[in-house]
Amino acid sequence: MTIAPVPRVGIIVVAAGSGTRLGAGAPKGFVGIDGHSILRHALERVFAGPLAQVVVVAPAGREGDALSEALEAAGDRRDLVTVVAGGATRQASVSAGLAALWGDVEIVLVHDAARALAPPEVFDRVVAAIDAGSSGAVPVLPVIDTIKRVDGPDIVGAVDRSELAAAQTPQGFRRDILDAAYRDATTEFTDDAALVADAGHPVAAVEGHPLAFKITTPADLDRARDLVAGHRIAPVAARLDHDVAAPRVGVGTDVHAFGGAGALWLAGLEWPGEQALSGHSDGDAGAHAIVDALLAAAGLGDIGTHFGTDHPEYAGAHADVFLARTLGLLGEAGWRVGNVSVQVQTTRPRFAARRAEAEAVLSAALCGAPVSVSATTTDGLGFIGRGEGVAAFAVALVVGA
Ligand code: CTP
Ligand code: MG
Repeated sequence: MTIAPVPRVGIIVVAAGSGTRLGAGAPKGFVGIDGHSILRHALERVFAGPLAQVVVVAPAGREGDALSEALEAAGDRRDLVTVVAGGATRQASVSAGLAALWGDVEIVLVHDAARALAPPEVFDRVVAAIDAGSSGAVPVLPVIDTIKRVDGPDIVGAVDRSELAAAQTPQGFRRDILDAAYRDATTEFTDDAALVADAGHPVAAVEGHPLAFKITTPADLDRARDLVAGHRIAPVAARLDHDVAAPRVGVGTDVHAFGGAGALWLAGLEWPGEQALSGHSDGDAGAHAIVDALLAAAGLGDIGTHFGTDHPEYAGAHADVFLARTLGLLGEAGWRVGNVSVQVQTTRPRFAARRAEAEAVLSAALCGAPVSVSATTTDGLGFIGRGEGVAAFAVALVVGA
């Protein structure tokens, strides 16, 4: 008989919160995304990551349910599962998880179950940073929205976006450092990195992932549901009557006039200082052309079929909302996105410096499918040349899921 080595990594998955803001009538971890709960999705990705003891921190009284979910997700790693009850705050829940770690664990990752779709590669990146000598490592994403400093209803200043990053989980630390920081903590911190930094240790940033967003509100849950549906391999019988071997293409166009309120949103990006486009949503002609192209490729109608003005939830919505929903519709019909190419015709803004950024944002909204963005002017001709509006043209390829 061989005795499996005790892993040097421990992953604490905190799922003891009540999910007040989600308001689903059950602790958030046990709310369903598809046939599986938020906790189950989180754990499936955890067990596909680095070999680790996995400590699930469950709401008191729900330890048995959490154990069932963990054993289902663990596959051949069932021996690595521990379940404990959490506390009244996230910090208390992490403490309970720390107390359950095995003696040989040297690196601890703390992960929010609410970040149910965080992919295994992020766990690997965090462990690699600690292995390379960091005392702590946090996955971060650049901040895309323009950030303002406000005082009540007044905007009192701008904040330089390039200095900011949005922190995600899993956050990883050397175990001795995290244990000591938790033992000595006298106040509540919003995340583990803040607690460790307060104890005087540097924490490194590693690349986060758009799928590691936290499910906090009902809109976040809708987004997760759309993304999971977009990835699901539909049973053959449930697919539309199409030849799954043949990819299909679709085209989409959209035009919006300048003159809307607020900021310009185009090709998934906010463009500070540029004139806004008008429209029911944010007027992002680039994103809307992509939606039309994808729906056309899948034979699912057009943007008006699914996102018309009779849907108040799309008022003011940005590209990520439209594209996630479109991905969900495609997934339900048995399609996934091959690639997308979109061309924006406009005089302003100039795209060259932010083309790659637009591609990254649109691709992330489509769960990583490649998106190419190009831009052109019309030599001063027509409504585009006169700067009255923007046109966008997209071609999309979809393939059987
Ligand atoms: N968490 C926990 N114990 C707590 C509070 C939170 O384990 N006492 C966990 C949550 O289960 C979640 C993560 O910490 O996975 C992030 O917290 P949050 O998103 O705030 O979840 P909830 O506290 O459940 O939600 P809400 O604040 O809306 O009630
Ligand atoms: Mg909370």
